[in-house]
Amino acid sequence: MTKSKSKGKSKSGTASTSGAKAGPSKDTSIAGSTATLASNKDTIGSSISSISSISSSISGISSSSSSSKNDPKNSIPPPVPSIPRIDYIGYESEHQLQGMVSLIENDLSEPYSIYTYRYFLHQWPKLSFLAMDKDKDKCIGVIVCRLEPHGRMKSNRGYIAMLAISKEYRKRRIGSTLVLMAIEAMKKAGADEIVLETEYTNTNAIALYLQMGFIKDKRLYRYYLNGIDAFRLKLFCKPELEGADRASHESNVAP
Ligand SMILES: CC(C)(COP(=O)(O)OP(=O)(O)OC[C@H]1O[C@@H](n2cnc3c(N)ncnc32)[C@H](O)[C@@H]1OP(=O)(O)O)[C@@H](O)C(=O)NCCC(=O)NCCS
Repeated sequence: MTKSKSKGKSKSGTASTSGAKAGPSKDTSIAGSTATLASNKDTIGSSISSISSISSSISGISSSSSSSKNDPKNSIPPPVPSIPRIDYIGYESEHQLQGMVSLIENDLSEPYSIYTYRYFLHQWPKLSFLAMDKDKDKCIGVIVCRLEPHGRMKSNRGYIAMLAISKEYRKRRIGSTLVLMAIEAMKKAGADEIVLETEYTNTNAIALYLQMGFIKDKRLYRYYLNGIDAFRLKLFCKPELEGADRASHESNVAP
């Protein structure tokens, strides 16, 4: 799991070059509808923040030049707020890789090797998604996942390996939208549960996942190379499994 820059590197994600060739995602229909909702929210959020920043700059002007304030010749028209338009797309091919790597590297203390990215993207291309700033044609958010058989019950476990949103685009629900898209894709592919690890100090990510129904499953002591503990977070995808498991897991996790 991706972590913040000041911290160590995850143990997950063994490098490999094997796997199927990446192809276009079929999950863009989910992506489309989710993206529209999120993009609307982005628009509203951006408008509010732009409006408040405009109003604070206007009040700054008026306090420093009150004599010219009422002169219509001196009035400065407020700038038109630029609202980022976000597109959510599935991973398609390696032409997207550089943008994804640059984004994720910003939040890692040590970069993953290119083979780690390929391990995930080549084998599970339909479980990775990008958020693009449409106007800049730039990748500003990414989620990378896998799905594997798990345990004796022949269940399938989804795994969120990387999640990162570019700093200036955070707190606009882009991260939640990407997580939601990945959850839907993994459920569609047969996931019974979805897990991830994150540093126990990463309160922003933990809040995001708890809000989406994940629970704290385990505390993994000194999990990262820098000695920091991790929480393993888990989402049950089958309601009939959830009740008993949730109770037994939550009661065993240190805060
Ligand atoms: C964690 C991260 C992915 C969140 O992305 P985001 O797009 O800003 O998140 P969202 O806007 O969807 O936030 C959803 C919820 O997460 C929580 N959250 C996210 N950022 C937060 C912040 N800075 N402070 C407090 N809560 C925060 C809140 O509960 C928020 O819900 P709210 O808007 O109702 O308060 C982003 O901060 C990031 O890329 N961090 C660096 C990399 C990282 O830590 N990745 C996760 C590794 S497991």
